[in-house]
Amino acid sequence: MTLRQQIMRRKPLAAADEGSDEAGHLKRSIGTFQLTMFGVGATVGTGIFFVLQEAVPHAGPAVLISFLIAGIAAGLSVLCYAELAAAIPVSGSTYSYAYHTLGEGMAMVIAACVLLEYGVSTSAVAVGWSGYFNELTHGLFGWQLPQSLSYAPIPFYEPDGSIADPTGIVNLPAVVLVFLCMFLLLRGATESATVNTIMVLIKLSVLIMFAVIAFTAFQADRFDNFWSAGAGGISTAAATIFFSFIGLDAVATAGEEVRDPQRALPRALMAALFVVIGVYLLVAAAGVGSQPLQEFSSPDQQSAGLAVILRNVTGSEIPAIILAAGAVISVFSVTLVTLYGQTRILFAMGRDGMVSPRFAHVNPRTMTPNYNTVVVSIVIAIIAGIVPAGYLWDTVSIGTLVAFTVVAVAVVVLRRTQRDLYRPFRVPGYPVTPVLAVVACVYVLWGLPWHTWAAFFVWLAIVLAFYYVYGRKHAALARLRHVPEDVLEPGAGVHASEATRTRIDPEEDPR
Ligand code: ALA
Repeated sequence: MTLRQQIMRRKPLAAADEGSDEAGHLKRSIGTFQLTMFGVGATVGTGIFFVLQEAVPHAGPAVLISFLIAGIAAGLSVLCYAELAAAIPVSGSTYSYAYHTLGEGMAMVIAACVLLEYGVSTSAVAVGWSGYFNELTHGLFGWQLPQSLSYAPIPFYEPDGSIADPTGIVNLPAVVLVFLCMFLLLRGATESATVNTIMVLIKLSVLIMFAVIAFTAFQADRFDNFWSAGAGGISTAAATIFFSFIGLDAVATAGEEVRDPQRALPRALMAALFVVIGVYLLVAAAGVGSQPLQEFSSPDQQSAGLAVILRNVTGSEIPAIILAAGAVISVFSVTLVTLYGQTRILFAMGRDGMVSPRFAHVNPRTMTPNYNTVVVSIVIAIIAGIVPAGYLWDTVSIGTLVAFTVVAVAVVVLRRTQRDLYRPFRVPGYPVTPVLAVVACVYVLWGLPWHTWAAFFVWLAIVLAFYYVYGRKHAALARLRHVPEDVLEPGAGVHASEATRTRIDPEEDPR
């Protein structure tokens, strides 16, 4: 088989959860509510605690519109994820959708993106956690870890050449957090989902507490001159806020551990989107209504975000400490779910032979991919311990946006090549919705700095070189027994009759 044929071959939908003989099966134990909490858990992180002071100076009170625009942009992609996740409920999320629709080569490009989206963002989130952890212990006990154990040894340079943060020996809290999440994940998906649900309920309560307290100082005239920032200011703020909506797609990585996935996945994706948009709008309205606009640019606000608003409204430190505790818990659950997502994508890749099949081994007692979880956690902990967050975040955005773009394209491709595929959820407003999703992602991608693109292409080259040396030769697809001949040919589609067999009836599903 030529390299071109290897790059173009697509995995048949009928064999969506098949692959290497060594691959295990995950357990379907997660319900719709816990799955929704996965989406909220991965999404509500540091963003909402700090984004107002960056966005309000651009958009003024119309920041509410910016939140809505960012939510709709994220929502367009969520709709596309919902259609594919329901039709192809497997662990690999974007990577698997690309393998089924666009071919093996494109799947590897997406693998590079999702490794950035999940793997690197887990490290970046853990690095940020260290700051909140120190803030909390300082607020509670007047004590915090020394600088040498709170910062990475590698300096992060600002564009003007200055060093952004102090340097240390290792970011210890970040490393500890990743290993805590690892131990939880090793105990089992259900246990992790339960802990995540508790943490999500706590963080939502803390944000609602913020809104309730802030509303006591609400003044309607703070919304006067609502549109004064103009369209430019509103869209700049929306681009900044978009970060706060990243994470909803983590729901799709649980495809093989969900009960009744074809119903639960789209429902959970939509429910998580509505919860997140609702809570963010509430927090934004409460924040803007409770203090004069110019205060959002004050240095005090820049460093402490929502906590300063509460301190100003109540004159007490206690609500601010509760908010800091909320941020600590909030980021814990983001780390847990993104680490989970990364292991499940590598699980799918291991099953497909794109990485070692050991990544698809499942421990028969806990039904989790243990080897995978330990290896991924060690790598992420090392990155979190020594690399400053500034280097990590930009690459996360590019990986996420390229992955979102491909999912929207995959919806269109699959509609054309697989007309009869059983789709429990269909994107409303097709084809406008996926096209708009692509436009929104490309618009934000356009604004990313050139050095981020350069780093992305270097990373992509490394992943594709690995595919050339390893993946294309070990692809399990070449050995699948019942693969119809034609799907191994470039450009050939999957027979619709084969594809419809991917329907999983919860009553009939033996697992
Ligand atoms: N959406 C995540 C956050 O706001 C990345 O922290």
